[in-house]
Amino acid sequence: METNKKAAILVVEDEAKMRRLLELQLGEEGFLVHSAPDAEAGLQLLVREKPDLVVTDLRLPGMSGLEFLQAVKRANAGLPVVVMTAYGTVESAVEAMKVGASDYVTKPFSLAELVLVIRKELDAHRLREENRSLREALGKRYAYSNIIAHSDKMQAVLALVERVAPTNSTVLLGGESGVGKDLIARAIHEHSQRAAGPFIKINSTAIPENLLESELFGYEKGAFSGAVASKPGKFELADKGTLFLDEIGDVPPAIQVKLLRVLQDREFERLGGTKTHKVDVRLIAATNRDLRAALEEGTFREDLYYRLNVVAINIPPLREHKEDIPALAKFLLERYARDSGKPISGIAPEAMKRLMEYHWPGNVRELQNMIERGVTLSAGTTLGLDDIHLDEISWRAGSSAAHTLPPGMTLEQWEDETIREALRRANGNKSQAARALGLSRNALRYRLSKIGVPDPAENEK
Ligand SMILES: Nc1ncnc2c1ncn2[C@@H]1O[C@H](COP(=O)(O)OP(=O)(O)OP(=O)(O)O)[C@@H](O)[C@H]1O
Ligand SMILES: [Mg+2]
Repeated sequence: METNKKAAILVVEDEAKMRRLLELQLGEEGFLVHSAPDAEAGLQLLVREKPDLVVTDLRLPGMSGLEFLQAVKRANAGLPVVVMTAYGTVESAVEAMKVGASDYVTKPFSLAELVLVIRKELDAHRLREENRSLREALGKRYAYSNIIAHSDKMQAVLALVERVAPTNSTVLLGGESGVGKDLIARAIHEHSQRAAGPFIKINSTAIPENLLESELFGYEKGAFSGAVASKPGKFELADKGTLFLDEIGDVPPAIQVKLLRVLQDREFERLGGTKTHKVDVRLIAATNRDLRAALEEGTFREDLYYRLNVVAINIPPLREHKEDIPALAKFLLERYARDSGKPISGIAPEAMKRLMEYHWPGNVRELQNMIERGVTLSAGTTLGLDDIHLDEISWRAGSSAAHTLPPGMTLEQWEDETIREALRRANGNKSQAARALGLSRNALRYRLSKIGVPDPAENEK
């Protein structure tokens, strides 16, 4: 933080007179003040204005001050929060300190008292920040054993992962298909205090719409025909852990409302049930679409968006960090060579040159598929130009050559045919076919059942 920049303070106080007074007086003290009459508005300002410190009343309409404090801490664990308690009793203040308030003032307080507390907290926070950026400047590079990230862009992604992992903040991961959203979601979980708890993933596009709700929230026996026994949903399964909601942009509106409630109150009922379940779940959502466009179209709720977008991590497409390609290729090559027991140890320079030139519409997943295929087919000890078939595989990655449908075919028929073809090429191995198509296995299974390809054994391969 530059020292000559005004520190921004967010004041949340429902009493209009008091709010106005704080705004004026803190403004005169040289702070930049944003103010909100309730927690909802406060949270929106938090995202938009990124204040350096929050001052909040403990008694607020709607979401209580204590809940607001928790939400703030989830969003940004290091942000100092000063609470104002009206009761003159210490209990509520102590309660607030327990959930992460930095300090408190008891109403009525003098302006001098409040300013003193604010300055002290801002100083302490600045010191902590300086310490951290010093460490970073000294060349601490973020390293994860299974993530290749040499480029500055990917290092910036990992820096965010590092910072957000220990908090309980909801994270919204964005990025094209195959950039590594699943990978990053897992990294966040594994570096959180929940690492020992479950990591549960649910992909909203892989599940038929009418089943998504019961998958998420579970159901009681008899909730619908076929519900012969009760079943917990993913939220219950993810208790004390992380729930990864993939393709959040495709969640239908009725379920968006329910998600909003879980995010706000951490509670829900099973389908057909009356008992309210409380869960302690950290949510990570991912999307490969621009959710803001969905907001404008009205297909995605704005309030849910703000709840999810507490911390946004956008993973760049591979073509924007090509300097990672050599290390990625080497890493993936080693993995597949080991798996297949083939003595392939490197990539020929002309092949590498080709990899560097290619635009990778399917991102890291496409590179991974290409290497896997190369290793499978190669007879030598290095991958040469002959072993990489970029044009051949870009049909499924949507390259320009594939932009027209075969005459007389509908998009749906073409998709069905592509899926059948991928399965043929993979000799019926669904995991492999799913990978080649850039689909999850569940998504593939769902689509296969839609086009009437039987699923002989659930335990596939
Ligand atoms: N930086 C990376 N280092 C190593 N492997 C990576 C990296 N990025 C992605 N991968 C690998 O590439 C594959 C695709 O990544 P992932 O499944 O996480 O993508 P995604 O963004 O979730 O894609 P989709 O939108 O299709 O779900 C995975 O096997 C993943 O392990
Ligand atoms: Mg994914």
